[in-house]
Amino acid sequence: MMILSLSVAVAFVGALVPCSLAVPLRIRADQVGTPGDATFDYVVIGGGTAGLTIAARLSEFASVAVIEAGGYYQTDYGNASVVPLLSLTGIDVIDPSETFPHRPEIDWELVTQPQTNAGGRKVHYAQGKTLGGSSALNTMSYVRSSASAYQRWADLVGDNSYTFDNLLPYFKKSVRLTPPNLTKRNAVNATPEYDTNSFGAGSPLDVSWNNWVDPTITWLAKSLQSIGLAINPKGWSSGQLNGGSWVPSTIDPAHATRESSQTSFLDYAAGNTRLVVYPHSMASKILFKGTTATGVSVNTAGTTYTLSASKEIIVSAGVFHSPQLLMVSGVGPKATLESKSIAVVADLPGVGQNLRDPVSVNVAHFVSTTNAQGVVANPVTQPEALRQYQEDAAGPYSSAAGYISYERLTNELRSTLLDTTRAALAKLPSDSPEVQFIAGTFLWTNGSAMGSMSATICNTFSRGSVTISSSNASDAPVIDLGWFSDPADGDVLVAGIKRLRQAWASDPAQSISLGAEVIPGDSVSTDEQLLAFVKANANMIWHPSSTCSMGKQGDADAVVDSQARVFGVQRLRVVDISIFPLSIPGHPQASVYMVAEKIADIIKKGGGVQ
Ligand SMILES: Cc1cc2nc3c(=O)[nH]c(=O)nc-3n(C[C@H](O)[C@H](O)[C@H](O)COP(=O)(O)OP(=O)(O)OC[C@H]3O[C@@H](n4cnc5c(N)ncnc54)[C@H](O)[C@@H]3O)c2cc1C
Ligand SMILES: *[C@@H]1O[C@H](CO)[C@@H](O)[C@H](O)[C@H]1NC(C)=O
Ligand SMILES: *[C@@H]1O[C@H](CO)[C@@H](O)[C@H](O)[C@H]1NC(C)=O
Ligand SMILES: *[C@@H]1O[C@H](CO)[C@@H](O)[C@H](O)[C@H]1NC(C)=O
Ligand SMILES: *[C@@H]1O[C@H](CO)[C@@H](O)[C@H](O)[C@H]1NC(C)=O
Repeated sequence: MMILSLSVAVAFVGALVPCSLAVPLRIRADQVGTPGDATFDYVVIGGGTAGLTIAARLSEFASVAVIEAGGYYQTDYGNASVVPLLSLTGIDVIDPSETFPHRPEIDWELVTQPQTNAGGRKVHYAQGKTLGGSSALNTMSYVRSSASAYQRWADLVGDNSYTFDNLLPYFKKSVRLTPPNLTKRNAVNATPEYDTNSFGAGSPLDVSWNNWVDPTITWLAKSLQSIGLAINPKGWSSGQLNGGSWVPSTIDPAHATRESSQTSFLDYAAGNTRLVVYPHSMASKILFKGTTATGVSVNTAGTTYTLSASKEIIVSAGVFHSPQLLMVSGVGPKATLESKSIAVVADLPGVGQNLRDPVSVNVAHFVSTTNAQGVVANPVTQPEALRQYQEDAAGPYSSAAGYISYERLTNELRSTLLDTTRAALAKLPSDSPEVQFIAGTFLWTNGSAMGSMSATICNTFSRGSVTISSSNASDAPVIDLGWFSDPADGDVLVAGIKRLRQAWASDPAQSISLGAEVIPGDSVSTDEQLLAFVKANANMIWHPSSTCSMGKQGDADAVVDSQARVFGVQRLRVVDISIFPLSIPGHPQASVYMVAEKIADIIKKGGGVQ
């Protein structure tokens, strides 16, 4: 999730992003691969969120190579990718406009096809190209989905091991939870509630709550509570997404630094020479003997070589690149492959289909309360904030995302929907959340504080796709997000804006609001105007999924089975967000770590060698 998709906020605090950060090389020198042919038990393509997780677990009992296109984000991007506050304001590459800043050392610089139902916009879609992948750029919210979403997953793939209760051990396995430090948080109205049964004695991924609470967000939280979104005493890790909660984040609370798959799982494997990482290396093709995957063609700074797998190859290249790699290697829709003169290894029509990308809009007012960015932008208060951060891992710099709510639309708003939207929502389980509200705050271009609440769809009905422009993996994949191709998505967002206007009209929000609504603005009032606003302004929250969907053999969209094995070939799995069979409510990274743990365990137990 990102609270803001507004580049103005980024531009304003850009001056804060400080100098170089001394980063120790986290893995031993003899764990860095030397370009040249070599053989491992497992070869993992992509050292991102899922890739480093599954690689670290497999290296407990086997030899593993990881091929990663990027290097260390701490060196390549400095504090922006490390300091929690900067995850909201300093990650400049999240700019979705076509004039986004170019940072090829950490971002893939993908730009989509024009979104014909969203004003013809071509959007820049940031994706981490670094050890840690998108966990190095994300907003760090750690939110599991609802039990009913995992039940749908289990039903879609025909495997009961995907129910929430059966997945819980794999969620617990990764996470080292630190309870909130209420002294540091110093906000009586912001005590996080959570269910201790949802966590265990896991590791190595640190999850915690911010060591500082943004004052503006406490008022926005109260406003959401006052319109009926009560605090959920179980929080966002127990399979229930309804009401409101202070969100846990992947932050190391002792240092108040970003926790990514690199600082957790790669660190965990440091010193274990069964794990070898090939950084700054591009996987260009999966090699097959017949229909059995045998190796990967790799390019490191112009040197081309083959990493062979004696057991399996695991593709963890993310939502856009995993389907691309399958296609350039001969696994995908036959007509697409033949049109690019790629020899067909397996005709698999679902590869790259079923892309789901939830969209979001903001409702914002100027506010009288301060916020973290205001404290650190003020030369009078900044030095103390820096001291708090450096000496006590506390204060505004330690603070990332804050407060999230979920709900099913009220009957009043449901009655305003199109019949077709109501029918689509009625097919979802009765406890499925329909809209997510995120309380956020930022500085306007002139330095004034703004409060912003966003509405995000929880179930994406629109479908997009990923395909290839050539047989060369170095050519960017062709991405159509499919935004608003199903009218239900825009319809739900219009209702979401109406609900946020109710929140802004509440006493707690009115007590801090200065003047009229700024975004969308009072002149946007009829349903037609609201829908036009939504289509022109909605943006991603960087949760795209499902381009190599898990499913039952023969289903149109199905690319992998419930053990993540690619249909039609042998010794090849895909393990990352692309295999989620649906767009799950909540935030995806918790489930990305979980699914990597689960598949690693299946492999360890000897399951599923084809
Ligand atoms: C700006 C932003 C904010 C977000 N906020 C949140 C949030 O707050 N909470 C949340 O839960 N989720 C959030 N997400 C989403 C979450 O981070 C992703 O869903 C998750 O990280 C995806 O993991 P993955 O393993 O599928 O892919 P990635 O982590 O992206 O990993 C893919 C890896 O493969 C590498 N790769 C790709 N192709 C090749 C190739 N050919 N050769 C070699 N390497 C290759 C890439 O460099 C990358 O390291 C956010 C994402 C972004 C971008
Ligand atoms: C960022 O890194 C530099 C160099 O290590 C450091 O001096 C600076 O204080 C850091 N900024 C913050 C906000 O921590
Ligand atoms: C909580 O924060 C306070 C204030 O910084 C600190 O003194 C205390 O040690 C912290 N408690 C824990 C358990 O870390
Ligand atoms: C910033 O702009 C807004 C809207 O024009 C205005 O209300 C506010 O007073 C301005 N703030 C400053 C500090 O000038
Ligand atoms: C693939 O594209 C890259 C980047 O444009 C280029 O350097 C490389 O030569 C191409 N590979 C082939 C096999 O054409």
